[in-house]
Amino acid sequence: MGPLQIKDILQTAPENQSVVVKGWVRTKRESKNAIFIALNDGSTINNIQAVAEPGQFSAELLLTVTTGSCLKVTGQLIASQGAGQTVEVKISDIEVYGTADPEEYPLQPKKHSLEFLREIAHLRPRTNTFSAILRIRHALAFAVHQYFNDKGFFYLHTPVITASDAEGAGEMFRVTTLDLNNLPRTEEGAINFKEDFFGREANLTVSGQLEGELGAMALSKIYTFGPTFRAENSNTTRHLAEFWMIEPEMAFFELEDNMDLAEDFVKKVITYALINCKDDLNFLQNRLTEEEKSKPQNERSLPLLEKLAFVVDNPFERLTYTEAIDILLKSKPHKEGKFQFPVGWGIDLSSEHERYLVEKHFKKPVILTNYPREIKSFYMKLDEDGKTVRAMDVLFPGIGEIIGGSQREENYEKLLGRVKEIGIDPENLWWYLETRKFGTAPHSGFGLGFERLVQFVTGMGNIRDVIPFPRYPKSAEF
Ligand code: 4AD
Ligand code: MG
Repeated sequence: MGPLQIKDILQTAPENQSVVVKGWVRTKRESKNAIFIALNDGSTINNIQAVAEPGQFSAELLLTVTTGSCLKVTGQLIASQGAGQTVEVKISDIEVYGTADPEEYPLQPKKHSLEFLREIAHLRPRTNTFSAILRIRHALAFAVHQYFNDKGFFYLHTPVITASDAEGAGEMFRVTTLDLNNLPRTEEGAINFKEDFFGREANLTVSGQLEGELGAMALSKIYTFGPTFRAENSNTTRHLAEFWMIEPEMAFFELEDNMDLAEDFVKKVITYALINCKDDLNFLQNRLTEEEKSKPQNERSLPLLEKLAFVVDNPFERLTYTEAIDILLKSKPHKEGKFQFPVGWGIDLSSEHERYLVEKHFKKPVILTNYPREIKSFYMKLDEDGKTVRAMDVLFPGIGEIIGGSQREENYEKLLGRVKEIGIDPENLWWYLETRKFGTAPHSGFGLGFERLVQFVTGMGNIRDVIPFPRYPKSAEF
């Protein structure tokens, strides 16, 4: 179905057979003896070289064959004369589907900054870097579904529009059809959401977890994989306002099982990329090595593929929050006052602390558990001491928190207490609370930020560069 793609043509044995290649021109080079056109159709990082003889085509036609133009090339597949490729196309005919005026087309064959490319997000998938990222992103998404399917999980579609704040953090985007210039009011003067579309306040989901738990209480093992929205005003290289989250939720899993699953899961999906995205990963590795040349030796990181293999091959370090605080208190940066945020039991670890533990102290991924209850969500199971909860965060080098999860509080009274404690009206969560009333069970789950995983695997420094059209404060153009 459809024409052969460049990826497949490049794998075909050259026997002078006729081929049709459709793709976008990456470069055109003219020498005394030949005209070389490098074509790419996005099926692979590799271009196919198409060769014509000087004088074979009119100057007029050749003028329209420029970087970014789209061609249908007909010719013969022959063994390549030059180095760098095994096959090439000896052109017999060129049809120009679409031109790209070099005066206007922004993606000329030279290095463009990632910041500039973000401004032309509609075109950046045509660059080597972004097409590689998008192919890897696809492979990782596929690996996620494959992993859970193989393990007996069911993909549960949780709603995008919700009336609850799953994380209790109040960082939500409102969904409304009310006329903002003419809001209906109650007798007390408040906005009357009874007149809104859903007859109540609604927002975009910050997590599918609560509904995911409902699924796990029936199907035992479910996962969600969908868009998630957070209106936190964080302009960082690790936050998006719209990101994709994978949230498995398992009945009868305790914290230990949850950690085992999280570790096995990320290792398996990274392994999938290592096996299936070799060319793209090699390209990105070279790109990073190039970028790091400007850094002093001791600040350079491991080559990308080595870093990924290291994570796959080594057990993650597991320790409690309390143990981590002890390590931080004994650390050099703490003693020398180098941390920007002070360390002490009860603090919410900031990324400098997480990175110290992962990158300096353990030099490998870390799973921190049993955080103070005050800094974690209401649904996490209280430990016996009443001070900490059965939380787990997986921290990765260069990324910080990649996974957040916990064992859930399955005791109705305790959960109700926590809901009230943080000021959520239990009425809004009656359905969630009922799972603890009817056949409650120990259960656990976690959330993996998909873009943070893609960031780690591709080695990209900014999360805005691993999603096709990033949303962040003051930016939703494309
Ligand atoms: O730690 P978080 O907030 O946990 C939850 O949402 C739970 N409901 C998950 C669960 O237990 N089912 O978010 C989970 C992960 C984080 O570890 C991070 O990787 C990612 O989601 N994340 C973000 N990624 C990009 N941009 C943001 N603004 C993110 N906020 C969280
Ligand atoms: Mg978290």
